[in-house]
Amino acid sequence: MNIVTIVGARPQFIKAAPVSNALRKNHSEFLIHTGQHYDENMSRLFFDELGIPAPDVNLEIGSGPHGEQTGRMLVGIEKILLEKKPDLVLVYGDTNSTLAGAIAAAKLQIPVAHVEAGLRSFNRDMPEEINRILTDKISNLLFCPTKTAVDHLHKEGITTGVHQTGDVMYDAALHFAGLADKKESILAKLGLERKHYLLATCHRPQNTDDEQALTGIVEAFIESGETVVFPVHPRTRVFLKKFGLLEKMKQAENIMPIEPVGYLQMLQLEKFAKKILTDSGGVQKEAYFYKVPCITMRPETEWVETVQDGWNILTGSDKQKILHAITGFSPTHEQKNHYGNGKASEKIAEILNAM
Ligand code: UD1
Ligand code: UDP
Repeated sequence: MNIVTIVGARPQFIKAAPVSNALRKNHSEFLIHTGQHYDENMSRLFFDELGIPAPDVNLEIGSGPHGEQTGRMLVGIEKILLEKKPDLVLVYGDTNSTLAGAIAAAKLQIPVAHVEAGLRSFNRDMPEEINRILTDKISNLLFCPTKTAVDHLHKEGITTGVHQTGDVMYDAALHFAGLADKKESILAKLGLERKHYLLATCHRPQNTDDEQALTGIVEAFIESGETVVFPVHPRTRVFLKKFGLLEKMKQAENIMPIEPVGYLQMLQLEKFAKKILTDSGGVQKEAYFYKVPCITMRPETEWVETVQDGWNILTGSDKQKILHAITGFSPTHEQKNHYGNGKASEKIAEILNAM
C-alpha cells in the first residue's frame, strides 16, 4: 500500500517512530511534516535522535491562529495528496496537523487511519477535543489505545473500522528505554539526584494563556520548596515572559527552567523524578509507565485509567491543590495493564497488511 503519513508536532514525531518502523516492512510511506513545530529542539532533534525517517516534505507552515494554521496546512497537504494519490492517509493524535490531514484526505475520498482515536476530555474549550471529534468522524480506520477509547467511539455510533491496538506511546517508551539509559545523563548535567526533584511540564492554553492559572502554577512550584526541573515549551515561554513569571522563577532558588529536552533525556528525567507535574497527555502516561506519581494540572484527563488506578491526581491550576498534591499525594493501588503489550505499532501494521 502507498501510505501518506502526516505529522507536525513533538508528540507525533515520537508516536511515528515505532509505527513508521513497523509499516515500512510491507508498505511504502511518504512522510509529510506540516512544520507546525519547527524549533530545533521541538522537531529536528526527535528525527535525529529516534532514527525517524526524514520527512519527504516539510510544508513549513509554522505558528498562527487556528483557522489560518489549519487552512494553510489543508492547502499544502491537498496538493501533495492529489499528486501522490495514496491508498491511505495516516494521522496521529489531536493537533491541527491531524485535522488538516484528515479533512484533506476525506474530501479526496482517500481512506483515513487515525492513530490514538477515541480519546475524549469532554471539554470542548480544548482545541484538541474539536480536532479529535472531527478526525474520528471522518476516519475509516480508528486505532484506539485503550478500551475506554473504543467505548467512547461506540457511544458516538462509530463502530466500523475500530480496533483496540494498545498505545503506541507505550511502544516508544519501551523501545527507547535502553537508548535513554545509554544517553549522556541529564541528571548529572543538571546536578540532580535521583528521586530528589520534581519534573514539570506545562503547555495547555488553559494554563499558559491565562495569567491567573499560570501564576498559580508557578507559585505552587516556588512555594513547594522542592527542586523543580521545568523544560519550558515555547508557547509557555511566551506567556511566562508576558506575565513576568520567568523572572520570578529565575529568582527562586528551587526552580530550574530549562529548554525543551530530547525524548531520551526526557525519559531519564521522568524515570528518576520523585513526582511529575504536567498538563501533557504523553507525560501523564510516561509517569504511569515509570510508576512515578503524577499530578495533572488540569480539571480533567483523557487518560482516566491513570487516575482510576490512583497513580494520577487532577488539581487544575489551583495553587493550594497543587501544593497539597506535592506533599500529600501518593499512589496506593497496583497498576493494571491498560495500554497494551508494547506491540501496538505491529498490530496496526498487521491490520494494514490484511487490507
Ligand atoms: C500543539 C497542539 C497540542 C499538543 C502540542 C504538543 C494544536 C491545536 N495543539 O500545541 O495538542 O499537545 O502541540 O507540544 O495543534 N512555538 C515555537 N516554536 C515551535 C513551536 C511552537 O516558538 O517550534 C510557539 C509559538 O509561539 C506558537 C506556540 O508555541 O504560537 C504554540 O504552538 P502551536 O503549534 O500552535 O501549539 P502548541 O501549544 O505547541
Ligand atoms: N517531551 C520531550 N521533551 C520535553 C517535553 C516533553 O521529549 O521537553 C516528550 C514527552 O516525553 C512526551 C511528549 O514529548 O513523549 C509529549 O509531548 P507534549 O507534552 O508536547 O504533547 P502532548 O502529549 O500533551 O500532546
